[in-house]
Amino acid sequence: MRRPLIAGNWKMYKTSAEAADFVKNFLPLVAGVADRDIMIAPAFTALEAVAAALKGTSVGLGAQDVFWEAEGAFTGQVSPKMLAAAGCRYVIIGHSERRQFFAEIDDTVNRKIRAALKSGLIPVMCVGESEKQREAGQTFSILDKQVKDGLKSFVAAELGSLVIAYEPVWAIGTGKTATATQAEEAHAFIRSLINGLFGADLAGSVRILYGGSVKPENASELMAMADIDGALVGGASLNPDAFSKIVKFK
Ligand code: PGA
Repeated sequence: MRRPLIAGNWKMYKTSAEAADFVKNFLPLVAGVADRDIMIAPAFTALEAVAAALKGTSVGLGAQDVFWEAEGAFTGQVSPKMLAAAGCRYVIIGHSERRQFFAEIDDTVNRKIRAALKSGLIPVMCVGESEKQREAGQTFSILDKQVKDGLKSFVAAELGSLVIAYEPVWAIGTGKTATATQAEEAHAFIRSLINGLFGADLAGSVRILYGGSVKPENASELMAMADIDGALVGGASLNPDAFSKIVKFK
């Protein structure tokens, strides 16, 4: 069956010293956890400090974005090869904040996924509708477009490691979590899309995380749903105690 993945997206929080301090406090809290994967995605500036602090543990390091070129005159960008060399196993791609504030589109998501896979990174592709789109009844058509265009021209064999995160924009950082039923409905839809595009094997194995105001109080209910395979956690991942409680959902 699918192994749960609990991922922390730290966004633009924590200096490298603060990040290392988090890890020191967090690791003892998740010491016995062996039946699920854990990932932490700090800012680029804290990657090496967190990589050093996680050394010898099973907690995976992730980045929050990546550029698709291997190297070159691209001021401000970071390549997949640089992330892999810094110790990253995962990279978040297409987060709604990147789409909203930094002109990320499905085509750039697609290029980034291809580049990440080429460097052996596990892409965590984020999709999700805005509040307006949900109210207009467009949730499924938006997910359909984001998944199809984000994964355009891939074949199933290339996507074995892919992780998808369903993050309804209206639930991110707002304290408004999707109900377990709303989330499950979207997850089941995304899995059916993967089935149609890439076949039953990938649809059965691809992990689909839920993100949007996941807290220790609501994690277990969400994780109990058939098509929810983990969480992408923002705010609550900044605190070692809260994040460890989400990791240890029942
Ligand atoms: P949140 O963020 O948990 O603070 O809502 C989730 C995310 O943006 O990944």
